[in-house]
Amino acid sequence: MMECVHVAVAVFSLLSLGQSAPATNCKSLIQPIQINGRDQLLGRWTFIAESTDIPGSRVLSKMFMGNSWLSSTAATQENVITTSLNQKMFGLCFSLTYNMTLENNALVLVIPYPSTAFLLNTGCPDCMVVFTNYTIGRSLYKGLQLLSRNKDTYVQSP
Ligand SMILES: *[C@@H]1O[C@H](CO)[C@@H](O)[C@H](O)[C@H]1NC(C)=O
Ligand SMILES: *[C@@H]1O[C@H](CO)[C@@H](O)[C@H](O)[C@H]1NC(C)=O
Repeated sequence: MMECVHVAVAVFSLLSLGQSAPATNCKSLIQPIQINGRDQLLGRWTFIAESTDIPGSRVLSKMFMGNSWLSSTAATQENVITTSLNQKMFGLCFSLTYNMTLENNALVLVIPYPSTAFLLNTGCPDCMVVFTNYTIGRSLYKGLQLLSRNKDTYVQSP
């Protein structure tokens, strides 16, 4: 399906969180934080930035930043979140809906790729920093995404 292909690409194509923190702070920055129930994850989240080690993702990132958002609702099962990944591109809107399961303080996804996501610390109250391990084929990749409740957080770089 064309739409799914586009959207799956978008998942990995969103930033450049290129800033490095002082070495002493790194440990707390990469320590998963406690996810206290799924409610805090629900609602609309705009992708602000993304960095992954998936080959080729950097080039595509700029195109999609600020044009993609998640829309999450509670599924009937207590630990399941139904999420739509939406993307505006070329004047069209693409959408892919999938379920995430909250297990052992991690979000487990099967679609678009088998992956496990953790929340990391952020000083921004409207933001969510997500660290994800992806399994694509036989390879493992990592990704870091910054999402915000406030879609105006995104500032297009020149
Ligand atoms: C998500 O899970 C619910 C059950 O909690 C199911 O009814 C629904 O079809 C699933 N949606 C997708 C997109 O897999
Ligand atoms: C994800 O990555 C973290 C940190 O590299 C690692 O500790 C964890 O075992 C990985 N989880 C999976 C499911 O690959």
